[in-house]
Amino acid sequence: MIVEWTLNGRPLRSEVSPFRRLSDYLRRDLKLLGANVGCSEGKCGACTVWVDGVTANSCLLWMGQLEGKEVTTIEGLNQKDQFTPLQESLLTCSAVECGFCIPGIVMTGTALLDRDPNPSRLEIRESIKGHLCACMGYQKIVDAIQGVALPPVSEGEGRVRGKLK
Ligand code: FES
Ligand code: FES
Repeated sequence: MIVEWTLNGRPLRSEVSPFRRLSDYLRRDLKLLGANVGCSEGKCGACTVWVDGVTANSCLLWMGQLEGKEVTTIEGLNQKDQFTPLQESLLTCSAVECGFCIPGIVMTGTALLDRDPNPSRLEIRESIKGHLCACMGYQKIVDAIQGVALPPVSEGEGRVRGKLK
């Protein structure tokens, strides 16, 4: 079938099986490797993208469901080859270990911060509960998301934003 959809702001016309997974189409056909595939069954969150601005597991979406939809992958957040504030914060907080879970967490964390620029730690934990981090870096990931939400640290204070409580 032909699917007319938008990917990272660009209109696309894709000839594809309606039953091809979005995650496979992104990674294998389009060579967009940002969304990782861990479980292929909606349990790890590594493949998270936005569909019409809402987070979704790309391993659970068929291409046939995407007619007229706007899909954003992590590559779409970095179009100016610059880290986003959340990516900067993840690095500052040393929250990136092997990095496998991080693109999905960036998509979910960015969506959370767009909805609520100052979420509580509990809200942050709730928002990322669908993401598995095999490196068990959850505390630092929560620090990093909260670090983006906090107001700027005054000069000379010498503390890492993500460590502030
Ligand atoms: S690969 Fe999609 S949720 Fe795990
Ligand atoms: S940083 Fe390794 S899986 Fe999360």
